Amino acid sequence: MDTFDVGQLVPGFRPPPQGAPAEIDPAALAAAQTRTRHWRSSFPGPLIPGTDRHRAETCRMFRETFNPYRPAVLDWPSLAPAERARIVALPIWDIAVQTEGKARLRMAAYARTLCEPDMRGALALNAWEEQRHKDVLSRMVAAYGIALAPEPTPALPADPEWAYLVTGYSECIDSFFAFGLFELARRSGLFPQALVDTFEPVMQEECRHILLFANWAGWHRARLPFWRRLRFEARVAAVWLYLAWERIGLAHTVGAERMAPEQEQDNNFTLHGAQSVASTEVGMADLMALCLEENARRFAGYDERLLRPTTVPRLASLLLRIARPLRGRR
Ligand SMILES: [Fe+2]
Ligand SMILES: [Fe+2]
Repeated sequence: MDTFDVGQLVPGFRPPPQGAPAEIDPAALAAAQTRTRHWRSSFPGPLIPGTDRHRAETCRMFRETFNPYRPAVLDWPSLAPAERARIVALPIWDIAVQTEGKARLRMAAYARTLCEPDMRGALALNAWEEQRHKDVLSRMVAAYGIALAPEPTPALPADPEWAYLVTGYSECIDSFFAFGLFELARRSGLFPQALVDTFEPVMQEECRHILLFANWAGWHRARLPFWRRLRFEARVAAVWLYLAWERIGLAHTVGAERMAPEQEQDNNFTLHGAQSVASTEVGMADLMALCLEENARRFAGYDERLLRPTTVPRLASLLLRIARPLRGRR
């Protein structure tokens, strides 16, 4: 029994109102799907990072784009045996469920350290949405009979800011690639459209999460006095190094026989994710181009005055600029 409760960790947080499953109106859900991907502030001027206006509009965006879908009423389409086998075999389910579990805890742990009520509420809602992702995934694995490894209970982080930075930047990396892989799965037709539709709100929600994170980071760093700002930038650099090391480390252990089961899952997916969801061979450059395209499409509906995560898209564009002429020469 999962007893996680954001309200217990972040005093004052109230979960968004949700009607009983029978009261949910399909037209209202369709309107929410549209609302969740389009948002513009009614304020006419610039949104300067660090200002109260920037903070207020960032948090308003997060509240007003909330999608009230309920995991309990999601449709799990029946799958042909080959489709089901392909989904069950994807080496991601343990890691996905555990990642959502860690994200909800770390976001709530950092939210409760904030005094500013607007940002505290937005981050607590983000934690609540991670909890909902975990619920969606748990229902999916149950519906398709996917066996999960026993889940370790993550402890409350000793350094909530560090843990939040690690989670936030991890989401920036993982979401960028997930957007492309998800589209690849849709285009290949190897996953039924109904299943793609069921997961679509989760995917767009990750886009909102990293939009919130980029604006939290911009707001937070702009308000820090010089010395604390230096310390913060050093921490951000350390987080990127840590994440790069973690990912390179995982890639290096491919083929190693003494690998922990959870590492094995992550490794395989890093290298074979695209092949698992595509009908034909997909090159790294094509995958990168698709990720960039999808990243731009998912962010296009949000006010351009809000900050976007930029590091991973810039790195991907750079790699693409290097890879394309090389491929042409070959
Ligand atoms: Fe999530
Ligand atoms: Fe998220």
